[in-house]
Amino acid sequence: MATSNQSYKNLSGSYLFPEIARRTKAFAASHPKAKIMRLGIGNTTEPLPPSIVKGLSSGVKKLSNIKTYSGYGDEQGNTELRRRIAEVKYKKAAEKIEADEVFVSDGAKSDTANIQELFSQDSIIAIQDPAYPVYVDTNVMAGRTGKAKENGQYEGIVYMPCTEQNNFFPELPHKKVDIIYLCSPNNPTGAVATKEQLKRFVGYALENEAIIIFDSAYERFIADKKLPHSIYEISGAKKCAIEINSFSKEAGFTGVRLGWTVVPKTLVTEDGASLNAMWNRRQTTRFNGASNISQEGGLAALSAKGLKETQKVIDLYMNNAKVIRKGLESIGIKCYGGVNAPYIWIKCPKGMKSWDFFNKLLEECHVACTPGSGFGPSGESFVRLSAFGHPKDIREAVESIKKNLKI
Ligand code: MLT
Repeated sequence: MATSNQSYKNLSGSYLFPEIARRTKAFAASHPKAKIMRLGIGNTTEPLPPSIVKGLSSGVKKLSNIKTYSGYGDEQGNTELRRRIAEVKYKKAAEKIEADEVFVSDGAKSDTANIQELFSQDSIIAIQDPAYPVYVDTNVMAGRTGKAKENGQYEGIVYMPCTEQNNFFPELPHKKVDIIYLCSPNNPTGAVATKEQLKRFVGYALENEAIIIFDSAYERFIADKKLPHSIYEISGAKKCAIEINSFSKEAGFTGVRLGWTVVPKTLVTEDGASLNAMWNRRQTTRFNGASNISQEGGLAALSAKGLKETQKVIDLYMNNAKVIRKGLESIGIKCYGGVNAPYIWIKCPKGMKSWDFFNKLLEECHVACTPGSGFGPSGESFVRLSAFGHPKDIREAVESIKKNLKI
């Protein structure tokens, strides 16, 4: 008789974003005249820039011709794309990133979810709280935790609170941990780690033989020149960090699907295993490579013209972020983030709980947000607004909040 993976029973609820979509849909169904403005999930809205469309189209064209047709590609990704990612994205790395340390994938979400399987079952996981829910949920599914406790934490995970008091960047773990998830620019708080802050974590990881899983999916949104875009800007990180990134947000590939993970060859676990060799084994076994069409689009996105064009779209989203912050602050709402990240982390007025404020924003203003508590217990009494959206819709949402929110 087949029995199920019991660890799934430890999950405390459904995945955050479908749950928001479900509640928003239910509200829309019972209020058919209401125009709902969705600032919940970080979903891109602007059309792909011309050079990327050209790249994707050339990918399709190649498939239509017997001379240029290709079937399966290398599981690790198109060699030229791996080379370009290494060159363009890791220019400032303290130790050079080689093309064969870059693994192209169908997106950062799957890599973020899959990477944990390289580590032993008894690895102790430390996670920023609040955090992108995939880090916690996939470790729960893998059986690395116990059940959810009343305070919203799972047994067995080391939570690293990111609060107003520490400017949303955590202290080092107080005990020895094995795997540390860091995300900068942070989803959901919009905080960006400084070089000093990353240095402390790299130092800790080297000293404790821990591995950092660094999610840099929003690095292109950093405007402040002093802030690091990659953990590899810190000397020694190639010996203790994996970095995951994506074309989704910076190039509008949320539906196209393309991302990558850097697993340095110098990265070795306490028991002497090469994580680069293991990830290579994992990907070649379980993955047939990213779509060859998407990869042509990725190459175009990293061309000089592509980078210029995507910057314009990034600027548009960051202007949305400014509009959101300014509008909400004008009615006395405390906002964080939104300066070097496309997310605005909003303190619920009068200490309201996240889901209560979610309901209030939806009912009174017809704006859907993401409840902070969905990212972890330290996200309670916050909500996240996404700056991804057409500027006109963002302005409309902000005006509706200013006019209709009763606080
Ligand atoms: C988010 O809204 O946090 C993300 O867009 C979801 C994702 O990237 O999977």
